[in-house]
Amino acid sequence: MSSDPYISIVDVVKVYETATGGVTALRGVSFTVAKGELVVIMGPSGSGKTTLLSILGGLDRPSAGEVYVGGYALHKMSSKQLDKFRRSTIGFVFQFLNLIPKLTAYENIEIPMVARGVKDGRERILKIASELDIIDKLGRLVEELSGGEQQRVAIAAAVAADPPIIIADEPTAELDGETIEKVMDFFLGLKEEGKTIIVATHDPRVSRKADRIILIEDGLIKGVYSGGELVSSGVAIKSYRDYVRNRLVEIEDEIRLLGERFKKGELSIDEFINKYNRLREIKAFLEDELKFG
Ligand SMILES: Nc1ncnc2c1ncn2[C@@H]1O[C@H](COP(=O)(O)OP(=O)(O)OP(=O)(O)O)[C@@H](O)[C@H]1O
Ligand SMILES: [Mg+2]
Repeated sequence: MSSDPYISIVDVVKVYETATGGVTALRGVSFTVAKGELVVIMGPSGSGKTTLLSILGGLDRPSAGEVYVGGYALHKMSSKQLDKFRRSTIGFVFQFLNLIPKLTAYENIEIPMVARGVKDGRERILKIASELDIIDKLGRLVEELSGGEQQRVAIAAAVAADPPIIIADEPTAELDGETIEKVMDFFLGLKEEGKTIIVATHDPRVSRKADRIILIEDGLIKGVYSGGELVSSGVAIKSYRDYVRNRLVEIEDEIRLLGERFKKGELSIDEFINKYNRLREIKAFLEDELKFG
């Protein structure tokens, strides 16, 4: 390659030190991302997705290995330098949202803009909010919004200050199929503007829009896919169809567990119906992927 990749991580290992010993979350992960790419990280719960995104976003450091993002060598930077890097370069959508419940949606979206010294943000906030279909929620306190609305406020806040790199950790977990489409269109729009986007997800409706899918399992890359084809394999080769098939089995389990929890009275009827419909939608989509994919 004539120029260095925009993002490059090399042999990254992450061990969390806990009271009962070390937990190895990443066991030597290497890949690159080009500027303007939309890359999806998929993998089972606990496989290391959040850990990987935190390291890419300068929120955490690798125990070993190298991390280069937009020309910065993150593994060599001080905490203060990392803070500065994050503010100027990264828009992060957290898995557990990180919004301030007692502030309005508008204020939550405005905070990162103020932090970055963006002036006259109002018009931009209105544009983003309308694209994400939350314009009528802007004046509401975040704690009064639904999970899916909060998720879109978190996405708006992450992109408000116009960062060149957007990192999103399961940004659609609370959304229905139609809203997922809207959010993915929004991300594709950002990509067209030249933004680089990295998304961790369990949802194949998100991953099918990606330029590349990186499959991670137990802290290792198992395969990299582009257009459903394996382009490079890690330790064990596994097809995307196998992945979809496994996911289908997991979803069926989740549906069964949901039914059991409802029968035990652990869920309200609304919660049950909501979650049940969401799982059914994913199930139907996965079945289609197997039929036509
Ligand atoms: N702060 C921490 N301290 C100790 N262990 C951690 C910590 N954070 C994560 N881990 C462990 O590291 C591994 C990877 O966790 P990670 O959160 O990256 O997984 P994930 O792929 O994001 O999972 P999920 O899909 O459930 O969000 C898991 O075994 C987890 O228990
Ligand atoms: Mg996670």
